[in-house]
Amino acid sequence: MKILVTGGLGFIGSHTVVELQNEGFEVVIIDDLSNSSIDVIDGITAITGIKPHFEQLDLKIRSKVEDFFKAHNDIAGIIHFAASKAVGESVQKPLMYYENNINTLVYVLKEIGKLQHQNFIFSSSCTVYGQADELPITENAPVKPAESPYGNTKQIGEEIIKDTCRVNSELNSIALRYFNPIGAHPSAQIGELPKGVPQNLVPFITQTAIGLREQLSVFGGDYPTQDGTGIRDYIHVVDLAKAHVVALQRLLQRKNESNFQVFNLGTGKGSSVLEAIQSFEKVSGRKLNYKIVDRREGDVVAAYADTNKANDVLGWRTELTLDDAMASAWKWEQKIRNV
Ligand code: WQD
Repeated sequence: MKILVTGGLGFIGSHTVVELQNEGFEVVIIDDLSNSSIDVIDGITAITGIKPHFEQLDLKIRSKVEDFFKAHNDIAGIIHFAASKAVGESVQKPLMYYENNINTLVYVLKEIGKLQHQNFIFSSSCTVYGQADELPITENAPVKPAESPYGNTKQIGEEIIKDTCRVNSELNSIALRYFNPIGAHPSAQIGELPKGVPQNLVPFITQTAIGLREQLSVFGGDYPTQDGTGIRDYIHVVDLAKAHVVALQRLLQRKNESNFQVFNLGTGKGSSVLEAIQSFEKVSGRKLNYKIVDRREGDVVAAYADTNKANDVLGWRTELTLDDAMASAWKWEQKIRNV
């Protein structure tokens, strides 16, 4: 079966391509290489022994999207990662985010409507919850006004899919709300490739440890948490990738009760920034140079998933730990810096 993965050379996309190939799917990748490297294809191939079909394509150009689907009308399912994802950047460049994250979704949905098999997995985010009133966070937690244009594009994206499913019963879709994806494939053939100064915690930790960054700033030590630092649900990217395969199989086997469903993907465990640092120091044997500074604008205090629906309905649960993720992130950092 042929599966289209948009943004398939990105961090989560590439790990999902590996798991799809491991399950015997034929994968076609679309990526515009705006935030990824063509070398990722070699990494995927080194792991699975199967070189995925790749087409460099800007999904913002509707005619190109139409041409692609004319050539690939045998697609059985689509996993849609392609989007810009830097929260801070989205505040500075809102129209770039709305064009790149929304227009592309609309063009792909217009084309999937012409296919025989209309199975669609959407890459969403726990950011839609903002600071949830209750923890752990269930899928029924209210979606709050987005704190950034990026978060808004995920909320709007889900609404667009829901509205389309309402008028097209052939379209079967699942939105997967990720908590904090971290780590890398244990082979160190693929991993996170942040451009410029990392915005996310774990790549900043590994770049500090390897000497690329002077010191990690811990954003806030006065939060109402056990050690004063922010709490997040750090999920290993390989566990996250496997969830996409399970969700796709659910749609292919028509097990979904309704044609639009949402699942939180997390470990169900919250870890503070200091706990994440301690985990890294334990698995790397390195002492991390960090200092506690002021809070970062827009950060929530705590977010971690209620995983019951993913475990019991989707039939997926995480298998890897925070230590596993930190060890894989460190191995990957050393690999790409040839250390
Ligand atoms: C995690 C924790 C920071 C950097 C974002 C997006 C979310 C998703 C994942 C795309 C927080 C602290 C961080 C640093 C720090 N992205 N931190 N020093 O903000 O939870 O989620 O990335 O889908 O949509 O919002 O992730 O890794 O930036 O922060 O102290 O240099 O680490 O305050 O507590 P976040 P993060």
